[in-house]
Amino acid sequence: MSKKLIAPSLLAADFGNLQRDVEMVNQSKADWHHIDVMDGVFVPNISYGMPVIKSIKKHTTKPLDVHLMIVDPDRYIHTFADLGADILTVHYEACTHLHRSLQAIKSAGMKAGVALNPHTSIHLLEDTIQDIDVVCLMSVNPGFGGQSFIENTYHKILGLKKLINHKKTATLIEIDGGVNAKNAKNLVDCGADVLVAGSFVFKSENPTQTIQNLKAVIA
Ligand code: DX5
Ligand code: ZN
Repeated sequence: MSKKLIAPSLLAADFGNLQRDVEMVNQSKADWHHIDVMDGVFVPNISYGMPVIKSIKKHTTKPLDVHLMIVDPDRYIHTFADLGADILTVHYEACTHLHRSLQAIKSAGMKAGVALNPHTSIHLLEDTIQDIDVVCLMSVNPGFGGQSFIENTYHKILGLKKLINHKKTATLIEIDGGVNAKNAKNLVDCGADVLVAGSFVFKSENPTQTIQNLKAVIA
């Protein structure tokens, strides 16, 4: 069985102590840094932009998993490549020409991710799955950390896993929103490969230990 990954979402970090929190992730058993970019248009919230990511990048030692919750993401693909993103995820709902966006991300040297909102069917990826490195299934409506996990996500993971096996692609399934130690095992048992966790990690008493516990649950 392939290795299961944890990607702490910095959205829940203490922005006054970003370097400290990035270094905590560096020292922990986490695998990726998950960076949420929100434009206030695609989602009703604004997070952080390029200057902040540039500063974060100076301290990160693990791959940068950048989740763009912005309209017309094609405009910024090269900017995020220059900033050092390793995985760049765009929303299916924000791309008029998804296939073109995926090619552009890969040509810029990054892994290509596609995020699906809770209402978006996994079947819409039938004709692009071979071009996608990571499918990010949103298990909350994007825009905010700390929301409750949407149970229908399990059903979507099972369907997506079937599609990936059928098409024989190496696509990873990432779950984003409301992940905690209670649902983590079920998620990987259904076929998830990467778990994003924001509040559950950063609002806990000992984030390093919480990451270690999550890893142990899904190992
Ligand atoms: C939500 C973001 C998530 C968020 C997850 O729009 O995409 O990455 O940070 O936060 P939690 O784990 O608190 O649901
Ligand atoms: Zn995210």
